[in-house]
Amino acid sequence: MLRTAILAAARNQTIERVVTKAPVSRSVVRRFVGGSGHEAVVEASRDLIGRGLTVTLDHLGEDTTERAQADTVVTAYRTLLDALNDAGLTERLGPLTARAEVSVKLSAVGQALPQDGEKIALDNARSISEHARRVGATVTLDMEDHTTTDSTLGILRDLRLDFPDTAAVLQAYLKRTEGDCRDLAYAGSRVRLCKGAYDEPSTVAFDKRIDVDRSYVRCVNVLLAGDGYPMFATHDPRLVDIIADRARTEGVTDFEYQMLYGIRPDEQQRLAEAGDTVRVYVPYGAQWYGYLMRRLAERPANMAFFARALVSKS
Ligand code: FDA
Repeated sequence: MLRTAILAAARNQTIERVVTKAPVSRSVVRRFVGGSGHEAVVEASRDLIGRGLTVTLDHLGEDTTERAQADTVVTAYRTLLDALNDAGLTERLGPLTARAEVSVKLSAVGQALPQDGEKIALDNARSISEHARRVGATVTLDMEDHTTTDSTLGILRDLRLDFPDTAAVLQAYLKRTEGDCRDLAYAGSRVRLCKGAYDEPSTVAFDKRIDVDRSYVRCVNVLLAGDGYPMFATHDPRLVDIIADRARTEGVTDFEYQMLYGIRPDEQQRLAEAGDTVRVYVPYGAQWYGYLMRRLAERPANMAFFARALVSKS
């Protein structure tokens, strides 16, 4: 119930206006967001990379409704990639992976525009990918709600013709995802597996947490048995243990863990120090509202933290 209410609020512009104008303690946003501009997020990345982690950076903003807005997002990613390159942070780790990469929401680069949205999003994603390649970085296409899954996977297929290292994201809460994992578990295919962050109908998604977790484990098995490069995005300690165990049993070392900036940082560090590749997803930019609300929906403890900060003066 609470999760559904918070996720509905995440898409409500009136609530957004109230919350973003409220005297929110800077610490709330700072805890989950790497900064408001590219300079700050490059510094945050330098710090994380200095501690043995890798990063994927997300320019916050989604549901672009105008062509010009989509162009602004593309420019922001190009500026960010140049800044990462200038800071010497785009070192390649292997043919498929780089120390720093970017995560792109297709809705932010035009996917939902009424005319030619998919084509505009593909062209814009291509432009970001070309720039990423020039500096040595890679691109992951974030996955949004289930109405966009087919379109996003279609754009991924087109992009991979020229940029085979483009990563997909699959959401274990969708009933279709085990099949999508099988389709994408081929050599050279980078796949991020997450539980899924949107409010989905039970016709397409598992609604019990236990069923989502079981689906996640089935997908882990498919991805580890396949020939691709799995990227397991979860903070769930039980799942992290299961992934480690299954990877050991399968003899797979070529995979990574991914976690969000500000969530279980000690665990991120512990895994990296144990020799695992850990990528931290660092969002940045002024449009933090939708992102922050989804993080709050995931964990009531974060809601209490947010509510305390809303009434604090700092
Ligand atoms: P869940 O939220 O069920 O939490 C499981 C357990 O993790 C908790 O019980 C607790 O033990 C621990 N935990 C969680 N939060 C914690 C906290 N704040 N402090 C301490 N412990 C905590 N979604 C999507 O739909 N599309 C996408 O493209 C992406 N991309 C993405 C990238 C990366 C790198 C990550 C980590 C996640 C995403 N997500 C996403 C979000 C994802 O779908 C999911 O909503 C969140 O990761 C939360 O799910 P968990 O797997 O962490 O489990």
